[in-house]
Amino acid sequence: MKLKSSSSIIFFALIGFILFFIPQAVAENSCIDCHKTLSPFLEVQKQFNQIRMRHLEINVSCSLECHEDRVRQLATSNYQQWSESGHGINGITCDKCHGGNPNQTTKEKAHASIINNNDPSSPVYYTNVPKTCGACHPNELTSFENSKHYKKLEALKLAPTCTTCHAPHGFAVLDPEEFRNFCGNCHSVYKKVAPYDIPLQAEYLLGKVNKLKFDIDNTRQDIFWAKKNGTDVTQAQEYTDNALNTVSNLAVLWHEFNLTHFEDELDSANKDVQKAEDIVKPTPSPTKTQVPTTPGFVAIAGIISLLAALYVVRKK
Ligand code: HEC
Ligand code: HEC
Ligand code: HEC
Ligand code: HEC
Ligand code: HEC
Repeated sequence: MKLKSSSSIIFFALIGFILFFIPQAVAENSCIDCHKTLSPFLEVQKQFNQIRMRHLEINVSCSLECHEDRVRQLATSNYQQWSESGHGINGITCDKCHGGNPNQTTKEKAHASIINNNDPSSPVYYTNVPKTCGACHPNELTSFENSKHYKKLEALKLAPTCTTCHAPHGFAVLDPEEFRNFCGNCHSVYKKVAPYDIPLQAEYLLGKVNKLKFDIDNTRQDIFWAKKNGTDVTQAQEYTDNALNTVSNLAVLWHEFNLTHFEDELDSANKDVQKAEDIVKPTPSPTKTQVPTTPGFVAIAGIISLLAALYVVRKK
């Protein structure tokens, strides 16, 4: 019996081990196999890439033909950035966004159905990017579709698309520090995209998010101690869970770029935390309330009766 249970543990551990390694088996993908081996970075090519970045920044759509050498460099460096990104780690291969046939091993056949990103019918064309990304990030897409950014994007190129903020091919989430400067790239008097105070507002809201997270942590500690002291914390726990839920949706909510709605959500989470805190607020400890700061009536009466007793004894 004992032997049986231990061998079944080994059996399940083995299955777990195999399942763990299956997602990493992306080597079957010809895009990855070939792009991995393309020529490494050259200094000149690095410069070309910088020129291209500057073009994008000042809104000049640079055709691939204008710096031909750069194409090969991009195909290489994009692989490098991709391989370290969340997408690379999770096996989201090149063909998922670019199309093409990852079962073909020659470049011509693999590339046959790939459309250049300057072509408006390409899945990675500026205005088609949200839909391409949205296939896997539907919540971000839905929020984004409600934004002024999206509405402007359909009309002109100055508005950001997913890859303006999550640059290919690192696809990283901007951290709050970058976030502030980044919004100012367009929302400033120089670039003339109103409202100009967006960077300030964004900074203010990020501060509020951080304070909320801090308050939630505090309340959870108070709940822990209240529970130990026998308080019923069910309701407080529920309020805190609501607040946590709101916080976990904030990243998706950013994509509406409706800062009033964003702040409303923050405020509702703040109220939940406050309600929870009202329930579990640590009561002042009993020893503290009994320590008198001035001698109380009892103490004074005691001293007087002691003196009176002494007086009586001495008189006798
Ligand atoms: C046998 C090698 C090979 C295979 C397989 C391959 N590529 Fe490429 N790819 C290249 C090379 C080399 C370049 C550089 C430009 C050139 O020489 O055409 C390139 C360029 C590109 C470009 C940019 C230029 C363009 O034509 O738009 C994209 C996008 C691209 N590859 C995607 C893919 C995808 C997606 C797959 C898989 C479906 C794939 N590649 C499979 C070798 C390959
Ligand atoms: C999650 C989606 C996504 C994945 C995965 C992805 N790309 Fe891209 N790629 C894009 C987008 C979007 C653009 C357009 C960026 C722009 O206009 O600046 C792009 C642009 C490129 C370009 C520039 C020129 C062109 O013709 O499109 C090359 C080269 C390229 N990708 C190669 C690759 C290679 C190689 C891989 C895999 C190692 C890969 N990409 C994986 C989304 C992706
Ligand atoms: C085929 C599915 C797929 C497509 C298409 C796709 N993604 Fe992703 N993306 C994923 C997965 C899987 C992850 C990693 C797990 C997670 O964080 O949800 C991820 C993660 C991310 C992250 C978080 C990375 C991090 O470090 O936390 C960002 C940002 C992102 N994707 C942006 C994009 C953008 C922009 C596009 C379009 C150009 C895109 N994705 C297209 C599947 C996809
Ligand atoms: C104007 C900038 C901007 C645009 C455009 C944008 N994002 Fe984001 N994205 C952000 C910010 C800000 C965050 C949240 C960062 C944080 O919470 O610190 C984020 C977070 C994410 C995450 C991580 C979510 C998580 O749960 O951690 C994904 C995935 C993502 N975006 C995908 C997309 C997709 C897909 C699009 C296009 C439909 C898009 N983004 C467009 C700014 C942008
Ligand atoms: C590539 C340029 C660009 C970038 C970068 C950019 N925006 Fe915008 N934003 C726009 C445009 C264009 C509009 C539409 C302005 C209009 O309709 O008058 C807009 C509108 C907005 C609005 C709506 C304002 C309103 O009146 O309702 C908000 C909020 C906003 N952006 C927030 C942000 C934040 C936060 C960031 C940084 C994460 C950011 N934007 C980055 C171009 C940009």
